[in-house]
Formats: sequence, structure tokens, C-alpha cells
Amino acid sequence: MAIVWPGLLVQAADNLAEFHRDRGLSCVACHDEGPPLSDDNLSLENRNCSVCHGSLETVSVEIGEREIDPHLSHLPGEPACTTCHATHSPSVPYCSACHSFEFNLPFAGTWERMEASIDELQQQSAAHDSAINNPPRDTVDVIVIGSGGAGLSAAVAAADASARVIVVEKEPVIGGNSKLAAGGLNAAETRQQAALGIEDSLALMTADTINGGKDKNDPVLVQVLVSESAGSVDWLTSMGADMSDVGRMGGASVDRTHRPAGGLAVGKHIVQVLYDRASQLDVDLRVNTRAVEILEDQSGAVRGLLVQGKYTGLYWIQAPTVVVAAGGFGKNNDLVASFDEKLRGFAATNQPGATGDGLNVATRAGAGTLDMQFIQAHPTYSPVGGVLVTEAVRGNGAILVNEAGRRFVNELTTRDVAAAAILEQAGDHAYLIFDESVRRSLQQIEGYVELGAVDEQLTLSDLADSLGMDATVLTATVERYNGFVAAGTDQEFSRQDMARPIAEEAFYAIEVTPAIHHTMGGLRINSQTQVLSGDGESIRGLFAAGEVTGGVHGANRLGGNAVSDIVTFGRRAGQRAANYAGVN
Ligand code: FAD
Ligand code: FUM
Repeated sequence: MAIVWPGLLVQAADNLAEFHRDRGLSCVACHDEGPPLSDDNLSLENRNCSVCHGSLETVSVEIGEREIDPHLSHLPGEPACTTCHATHSPSVPYCSACHSFEFNLPFAGTWERMEASIDELQQQSAAHDSAINNPPRDTVDVIVIGSGGAGLSAAVAAADASARVIVVEKEPVIGGNSKLAAGGLNAAETRQQAALGIEDSLALMTADTINGGKDKNDPVLVQVLVSESAGSVDWLTSMGADMSDVGRMGGASVDRTHRPAGGLAVGKHIVQVLYDRASQLDVDLRVNTRAVEILEDQSGAVRGLLVQGKYTGLYWIQAPTVVVAAGGFGKNNDLVASFDEKLRGFAATNQPGATGDGLNVATRAGAGTLDMQFIQAHPTYSPVGGVLVTEAVRGNGAILVNEAGRRFVNELTTRDVAAAAILEQAGDHAYLIFDESVRRSLQQIEGYVELGAVDEQLTLSDLADSLGMDATVLTATVERYNGFVAAGTDQEFSRQDMARPIAEEAFYAIEVTPAIHHTMGGLRINSQTQVLSGDGESIRGLFAAGEVTGGVHGANRLGGNAVSDIVTFGRRAGQRAANYAGVN
């Protein structure tokens, strides 16, 4: 039976461990008798939490209705209670790393990233040497760094080929930026498009991708991305994913962005599907476990990985292959600004762990990089709530207006153009304007409502008043736009796709501003996902996939192409790594 202590907020203890002790619970109520006391997943402790308090769902019901319930949020997998409810130190609401709403958490401290740099870890010579000179703690065929979509795709593909796989994830929760992916996954010539009568082609997706990337993409990688995109959708659906809703995002010539029915966010869904499959295949997934150094033998071939477990310390895992799927560095503003000074001080849409240290681990093993200067700002980040507002809101019919209530850009142009246009408006911000029919078309909007980011009014005139705009101007803007929708031609900004008029009560606005979103540059790979050195030689046993790599997206990624990238290249990397390891 679930127990919730109503007196939780009124107590003398300094932390949860003391609080439990004061209620007569001994250490073994939570921990094993050890050593070791635990693993880095805190598996035993988490199980013990739920014995007394119930599952996340139970806790949620016990606590009662609330606007935002972190227990039922967008975290896939089985997030550990200890992610937020620390025990021997003040608890820290992990969600506050991104979101700005208040959490009523007992013994709560403030979230801040406190970790040594990879350089520092590699230079702690005594601990480092002792860890490496000890026998490996585990031996497997494939080690994957990162539990986002690329890492989990690699893990599933490798395990499907009978490889023994360990995934290490430095954060306390799985999913990386992938779990946040919103608008969808781009793919051409899919069954889902055919069912909806959408005509698309590989040539068109290739042209859109290279046009969006300003012709800086590696054409060989684009060819893989595009030609395997429909296969990636089929692979996901074969594992139970729903990719049936197909819409449009910026820079696409046709509807090719796939997501679950009703316009649900794509990321949490596919991470959960991949996680479930990885669990079925007995993939060993370790959170709170950071990759520190790729170990190579004297000939330069991979022989394992040195990791740091948050609770278990430094140790190494032996394997002939490592797949680096450690994501980008959008949340590391110093690193971002070192490549693009204009972005110094910008907010980011990314998860807290997107700091680029996986990239650092790979370059220290000799990996080359490319395109590091190409960093994308997403045009529509809502400072209220601290959340990215998916491009699909525009794809499904919203317009952008400035403080004066006027449109100023083709809302479905590429992101670099849309973001730059917003930054030219007064206040460096803009408003997404849409109606009830757009809200109905996209369930993700309910999340923005819950976060308090959405201004809802019965009439356009009321909406203008609420935003401090001239009502006649906003109304005229919307009427003019609706005229373009009816005529099928946007005479002002040549927007190609205008899904619906803005005409159905109620009317909505979300204030938005650009925020750092995607790092297009990264590790140099070939079409087989082998990591290349600065000289273009492949590093034996080292593979990479996803946002940690460069070349696929050129100077500017199209919305929807990253999730396509991580599934296609992640799966490829897993297959190639298993094959290299000699697994059948
Ligand atoms: P991630 O998913 O970021 O995973 C990398 C993981 O590696 C992280 O969990 C990280 O903590 C871990 N890691 C890093 N360093 C280490 C280390 N040293 N040791 C161990 N672990 C490490 N793209 C689309 O195509 N469509 C969308 O709709 C879309 N929506 C988005 C919405 C948001 C809010 C964001 C932020 C991005 C969105 N993107 C979207 C982009 C896309 O989600 C990402 O580019 C993609 O998910 C990256 O996947 P990945 O597996 O390469 O990296
Ligand atoms: O706007 C979005 O849904 C984000 C998409 C992407 O980054 O591809």
C-alpha cells in the first residue's frame, strides 16, 4: 500500500535519509548490506522506495490533482525516484534544470551541474591509473556512450545481432535530447505518406535537406539519411511505434514529418519504444555513469572504455567496440560561444547533459571533427515555462506576428531565416498566433498550456488587448492571412503551406524567442559510421552516430531530420559495431 507522509514538509531533519532514520528505519530499509551498497542505477533503493510509496503513477494519484505532475511527465524509461529525491543531501528537482515552474519538494536544493571536466578526470592520475590497471569490471561486445535515440538504436541493433551490450548514460535519466523531440521524424516514400495520399520522393527530400544545409552537407551521409528514412520508420513501427500522423516542418516541400496520432511528441514515444526493446534484449543500461576515456591498444584499436559511476567510482569495461552516441553541446554556452560568439548568453532548448563531453572523449582518442561553427537557434522557444514550442504549431497553421501585430516572415522557412527575422523585431521576440483548430490538431499544445505559456482569449480583439497590441492591426493581419489561405497563395511572404485559416474560437498566443537548439558539427564519420581521425583514417572499433557527429545536416538542419538521423545512423552503428566485434 502506498504511504504518503502528510507531515513531510514540517520536520526537523535535514534530508530524506535523516527523515527516514527519525522514523525508525535503518540503513538496510533502503540499501543492501553491501559493499557494494548499490549500483549507479540505485536499482535496489528505487525498488525499496516503491515498496513503501508505490509506483510513480500511485504517488501521483496519492498526491492528488495538480496542473503539472513531474511523476507523469515526459521522462521515458523508468526514471529513478532518486533523480529528484536525493537522500543524504538536499533533494534537487531535476526538471528545474530546464523548466521555470516551482516545485514543492521537501529538503530541496537548487539544481546546478557540478562535475569535473573530462580533462580533469583523465588527469587525476592516481585514480585513473589504478582504475585502468585493475581488471575490467565487465566484458562485452559493444559499449554505447549515451542513451538517446542514437544510442538506444545502436544498442537495440547490436543486441538484435546477438551482441552483449552495455549503454552508459551520465545523466540520472535516459533519453538525452531525444526524449524532448517534439515535431517528428522526416522520412520520404513511407507507407504512412502513401496512406494519406502524400506524394514525396527521395530526390525531393535530398534536395530539401541540402538546400536547408546550404550545400555544406556531406552528400554521402545525406544519401544514407534519405534512402534509409522509410526503413527507419518501418523499423520503429515493427517495435510498436506509432508514426501515423504526418505533418510539415520548415524547409520541407511536402508533408513528411512523422509522429504519433493526434500530434503527440515523437521523442518520448520512440525513446520508450527503443528502451522497451533494449530491455527485452537484456541490454545493460547504466545511468549516472559517465564515459571518461576510450581505451586503445598499442596498435590504436579500441579495447574498452573507462567510466565514472556516480556511486561506484572509476572502473573500466572491456570491449572491442565503442559507439559514441553522446549527443550535442547546446547546453554548454561557453563551448557554443567559443564557436559562435553571437550565441553567448542565449537560452537553450536542450537537456542539461548536452554539454559536449562525449565529443571531448572521442577527440581525445584521435577523432576528427568538422563543421563545429554551425550551431542552430530554434526560432520558437517560450521563456515562460522554459520550453521549446514545436515547429509543428506553425506547420499546423500558426502565424508569427511582432509586437505591432504584423507578420514579418514566411513562418515555414528554414530555422536560420526565421530565427534571424525574430531577432530583428522589437524586443527580440514574437508571438505565435493560432486558433482552436490548431490546438485540437496537436496534443503537444496542452503541455504548453499547462506550463502557463499560452494566452487564451475568446476573440482576436481580446487577444490583442491582452498582448498590448492594436486590435485592428492584429485582426487585419489575420484576415489578410486567411484570405491567402483561401486563395492558396501567400502574397506577402510566399509561405507554401497554409494548413488552415485562423478562424475558430478560441484564439491563442505564445510569446517566443530564439534559443540554441542543435549543434550541426561534430565527429567526422564515414557512411559506415566509423569514426575518422583528422587525417581521414578510420579508428578501429570506434563508431559514432547522432548529434555528436557532423556532416549530415551541413550548415543548418531541417526540422525533423535529426530524429531521422539518430535512428538511421544509430541503427547502422549498432549493426556495424556488432559485425566488427565478430558477432553473428
Ligand atoms: P541525445 O538524445 O542528446 O543523447 C545523448 C546522450 O548521451 C545524452 O543522454 C547525454 O547525457 C549522454 N552523454 C553525453 N556525454 C556522455 C558521457 N561522457 N558519458 C555518458 N553519457 C553521455 N529533431 C527532430 O528531428 N525532430 C524533432 O521533433 C526534434 N525536436 C526537438 C526538441 C527539442 C526540445 C530538442 C532539444 C531537440 C529536438 N530535436 C528534434 C533534435 C533531436 O532531438 C536531437 O538532435 C537528437 O535527439 C539527438 O539524439 P542523440 O541520440 O544523438 O543525442
Ligand atoms: O520544432 C520542433 O518540433 C523541433 C524539431 C526539430 O528540431 O527537428
